[in-house]
Amino acid sequence: MTQYQIFFFILLTSNHIVRLQSDYRNHNNCPHLFKTLNNCTCVHPNTIDCSYSTTISHLPRSWYSLNHNLTEFTQSINRFDLVHTPSITLIRTDDFQGLQNLRYLSIVNTGLIKIQPHAFRHLPYLYELRIEGNRNLTELNSFSFSDIEYIHRISLISNSIRVINTEAFRYTHFVNILDLSNNPLEVIHSYAFFGLKSVGTLILCSLPICPIKQIDAFAFFGFHTCDTILLTGIHTSLRSLSFSHMTSIRLVNLSNGEISRIHSHAFQGCEHIGEIDLSSSLISNIDRNAFDEINNISLLNLNGNLIRLFEKSIFQRLINSIKQINLDNNPIQCDCTLEWYLEQRSSRFKLPDVCTGPIGYECLSPNELQQSQLPCYQINIDNNQTKTKNLCEKRVKNLNWKQDV
Ligand SMILES: *[C@@H]1O[C@H](CO)[C@@H](O)[C@H](O)[C@H]1NC(C)=O
Ligand SMILES: *[C@@H]1O[C@H](CO)[C@@H](O)[C@H](O)[C@H]1NC(C)=O
Ligand SMILES: *[C@@H]1O[C@H](CO)[C@@H](O)[C@H](O)[C@H]1NC(C)=O
Ligand SMILES: *[C@@H]1O[C@H](CO)[C@@H](O)[C@H](O)[C@H]1NC(C)=O
Ligand SMILES: *[C@@H]1O[C@H](CO)[C@@H](O)[C@H](O)[C@H]1NC(C)=O
Ligand SMILES: *[C@@H]1O[C@H](CO)[C@@H](O)[C@H](O)[C@H]1NC(C)=O
Repeated sequence: MTQYQIFFFILLTSNHIVRLQSDYRNHNNCPHLFKTLNNCTCVHPNTIDCSYSTTISHLPRSWYSLNHNLTEFTQSINRFDLVHTPSITLIRTDDFQGLQNLRYLSIVNTGLIKIQPHAFRHLPYLYELRIEGNRNLTELNSFSFSDIEYIHRISLISNSIRVINTEAFRYTHFVNILDLSNNPLEVIHSYAFFGLKSVGTLILCSLPICPIKQIDAFAFFGFHTCDTILLTGIHTSLRSLSFSHMTSIRLVNLSNGEISRIHSHAFQGCEHIGEIDLSSSLISNIDRNAFDEINNISLLNLNGNLIRLFEKSIFQRLINSIKQINLDNNPIQCDCTLEWYLEQRSSRFKLPDVCTGPIGYECLSPNELQQSQLPCYQINIDNNQTKTKNLCEKRVKNLNWKQDV
């Protein structure tokens, strides 16, 4: 061997030794073994951060190894960030299995197209899962969120989810908040959320965007513990049994929508309902049995709709429990449908300050009207015409006459 060869031999061996020693941790502090993480950092305590990596396309095939003891590493990780990683398009079954202590997982603004079934199972400490802003994620497949046992928050906001397939959340029991706002969800199929048991708050839509056009009967079947549902801005009438089986629901927020009609028995099967916010939702038709079987409601907000008739058959059945029905800013007609109200004049009903009709009543206040002034008591029998007297005209005349004198 020449000196030159010896020199090279030494160089090679030492390099080999150095490589053996650094076998466990790469320069980015992620185990060398995980080649797919070479664009990520594992420096920050307990975090794998792949944010802004342009090359990561999938996760390691396995977080276990026969030849290396990776326990110390995998057990230490409690946070995983995949943010702004356009090359990620698929999350596979059990992709995270082995990261036993993972608590926070973010898959945000990625190229994600598909989540395979059971992608997040076997993560007993997963607390928060954020899958947000993935504009190519259009569908949630069956079982994609299965078997996540103690998760507190699943945020799915601002993806492009149109369809939620049956049992997408199978056996995922303890979710405090499920947020699906800002997705182009159009149809909530029957049993869409079946499998999700202990959701506290369900946010399906929040303003300004909510393209939901259809909510089927039993859409929320299985939500036994859900306390609040936020569905502001929907563009659909409320069909029978829409909220059926939400047995613990306290607040349904349906404000700022285009609802137009509430069908009979829309709220049947949610006997604990305490408050319904239906304000500013262009409601003009309420079926007679719309509010049947809600026995413990205390607040019904119908402010700012297009309701013309304050009908006894619709509203009186709520009288035992209700603290307030707000009908302010509705075009209420002061015709004979108001008679029952004038008999009670309960402060629990908030009517607008003035009547919107019939002709001749537009300047009167429903609260100052006497029963005898209602149009049905004002038929002019003289010429056998059911022509009603114009009370506004009469009042104006009286005022003018007083002024003249
Ligand atoms: C990703 O890794 C390659 C080498 O594997 C490197 O050239 C590139 O700069 C890295 N990019 C980022 C964003 O870290
Ligand atoms: C692997 O490492 C952990 C902690 O570093 C240790 O507790 C465990 O016994 C090791 N397992 C094996 C098979 O060497
Ligand atoms: C979404 O898919 C389209 C078409 O395949 C592609 O051009 C676009 O880059 C993708 N968007 C992201 C954020 O990956
Ligand atoms: C319902 O949602 C609207 C819009 O987010 C909000 O302004 C309103 O206060 C909510 N109503 C209730 C009763 O929480
Ligand atoms: C009825 O509503 C009141 C509050 O208004 C609440 O305290 C009570 O628990 C409710 N009862 C049932 C059976 O839901
Ligand atoms: C009043 O009109 C009704 C039909 O509108 C008619 O049957 C009745 O005979 C009329 N009575 C008088 C007194 O004109």
